[in-house]
Amino acid sequence: MKLLDDHIVLVTGGGSGLGLGVARHLLTEGAQLAVLEVDPDKVKALSEEFGDSALVLQGDVRSIGDLQDARSAIVERFGRLTSIVATQGIWDGNVPLVDIPVEQIDALFDEVYSINVKGYVLTAKVFLDLIQAERGGLVLTASQAAFAADGGGTAYTSSKGAVRSLVNQLAFELGPEIRVNAVAPTGIAKSEIRGPAALGLEQSKQSDIPADAFRFEFEWLTPLQHLPSPEEYGPLYAFLASRHNTVMTGQTLIADSGTLNRALGSMTALVRSMPDR
Ligand SMILES: NC(=O)c1ccc[n+]([C@@H]2O[C@H](COP(=O)([O-])OP(=O)(O)OC[C@H]3O[C@@H](n4cnc5c(N)ncnc54)[C@H](O)[C@@H]3O)[C@@H](O)[C@H]2O)c1
Repeated sequence: MKLLDDHIVLVTGGGSGLGLGVARHLLTEGAQLAVLEVDPDKVKALSEEFGDSALVLQGDVRSIGDLQDARSAIVERFGRLTSIVATQGIWDGNVPLVDIPVEQIDALFDEVYSINVKGYVLTAKVFLDLIQAERGGLVLTASQAAFAADGGGTAYTSSKGAVRSLVNQLAFELGPEIRVNAVAPTGIAKSEIRGPAALGLEQSKQSDIPADAFRFEFEWLTPLQHLPSPEEYGPLYAFLASRHNTVMTGQTLIADSGTLNRALGSMTALVRSMPDR
């Protein structure tokens, strides 16, 4: 028997990076899978990879119509939905507030919050009754940035803090039928997270950072000395999405390879001892 036998799970933002790795893992745990992704090229790649083993849907979590269409397709194919794993997100390029022209702040916050926060709210709302009927789970994606500065700029870090608060509120409102939790990752190998169009950074991706340099620094500075693949986050999401989780709601699990568990003194020593490359 597998963890997600008899579970229908929807992954939003499953076209690359974290969501794709988690979707692959959920399949190995026996889930019947639907994946929603906005980027048509990624939708095509998903259809080629998953074939009949997943329902691949193109849609934007900012669009109520797209979410309702996804709901109809899921009900038509599976007749029900047990849980949602929501992973979509964009970054803000970590541009300091002093460097952002004041007239771009509206557009920046609208863009980042509409995907990173409102997209999660709309998704929860559109699928609420289905998950309630299944006594399922809602698993959102926060970030270490919800707990510490410098994982992004003001828009990204505050959007991830908002996800953390959203988990608290939804868990309160939706219990006892629905358990609501989040995972807060730190580094993710193979992320393609993009920057905001509002700052002209929509073409820049985390994967543009030289992979070897990023991996070296991450592994030098983290206690677990390992940059996780997207798939390695899968078991956390799988458990939280499953009906086997009868004990946790309202929690954001920090999955940071130990990054935050270090005092300033040892961090300073570590940075000083980092070899030049
Ligand atoms: N990359 C990291 O190091 C890191 C660290 C902590 C948290 N996170 C979080 O992990 C999540 C996944 O990020 P990733 O790094 O895998 O990035 P990614 O860009 O590889 O994956 C995100 C996916 O979401 C999709 N998406 C974006 N907007 C969408 C929308 N409006 N509707 C539907 N799908 C949409 C993208 O096209 C993409 O396929 C994000 O929430 C991110 O904030 C990432």
